[in-house]
Amino acid sequence: MKIIAVANQKGGVGKTTTSVNLAACLAAKGKRVLLIDLDPQANATSALGHEPIDQHSIYGPLLGAEDIARTVVPTRFDHLWLIPGDIELAGAEIEVARAEDHLTRLRDALQPLRDDVTFDVVLLDCPPSLGILMTNALAAADELLVPLQCEYFALEGLSKIVHVVEQVRASGANPGLNIGGILMTMFMRNNLAYQVIQEVQNHFGDVIYKTVVPRTVRLSEAPSHGKPIIEYDPNGLGATAYRAMTLEFLARQKAEKRSG
Ligand SMILES: Nc1ncnc2c1ncn2[C@@H]1O[C@H](COP(=O)(O)OP(=O)(O)O)[C@@H](O)[C@H]1O
Ligand SMILES: [Mg+2]
Repeated sequence: MKIIAVANQKGGVGKTTTSVNLAACLAAKGKRVLLIDLDPQANATSALGHEPIDQHSIYGPLLGAEDIARTVVPTRFDHLWLIPGDIELAGAEIEVARAEDHLTRLRDALQPLRDDVTFDVVLLDCPPSLGILMTNALAAADELLVPLQCEYFALEGLSKIVHVVEQVRASGANPGLNIGGILMTMFMRNNLAYQVIQEVQNHFGDVIYKTVVPRTVRLSEAPSHGKPIIEYDPNGLGATAYRAMTLEFLARQKAEKRSG
């Protein structure tokens, strides 16, 4: 089982869009996927056509008050399960921060899922802040997937994430953490976007996905219909991009397995 944190401390860069659509594409490929909505805003939850369920978010397991298996709900998609987000998650910033082992709460809560082999991939859709939920996600994850908007300050944001990853490693909470992928999102054909991609490539090489997600209205419409893009507009540019990205993702996982 692989745990991937979809993270970037900046809001509106495509974390939720990427979490939901990668999850749906992986499930369509037959992988058993669990999407955990770590954002009190519960955008990933509604993007799948679900609503928050009372006392059914990851909040209970984070507090050690609830078995994680009880919070998992099936979706209408084969192979895709969800732990819905809920506004109660906002309380974690205070409640969990008080606890002694506050960095590894999520890691511990996820352990039962690692032990049984129900899921192939667990995706953590992180909230847009460097709070306790995001740091818990980084401590729990095998690797990070960073969606990055093709804009001027992209690299600056990226160096902040790199710094946080180093901190999490140094804390001992997750010594093996690394950035497994960078996905350029909301791409529009202009010189700036090409420059940004080139720069990220210069710094991070193959970590950057070859697939670039274009800015398309369809991708922004799909969540309000409660549908992933492969369902809402299966033949459009957005679906094509996320399908291609998913193939890259799977190829990387395979290559990793081979190299042990
Ligand atoms: N490639 C894209 N093209 C057009 N709109 C997008 C694209 N990716 C995301 N969006 C829209 O941009 C907004 C922010 O994206 P979202 O995935 O919610 O970001 P985050 O989770 O990082 O805050 C949402 O309204 C989403 O629908
Ligand atoms: Mg989001």
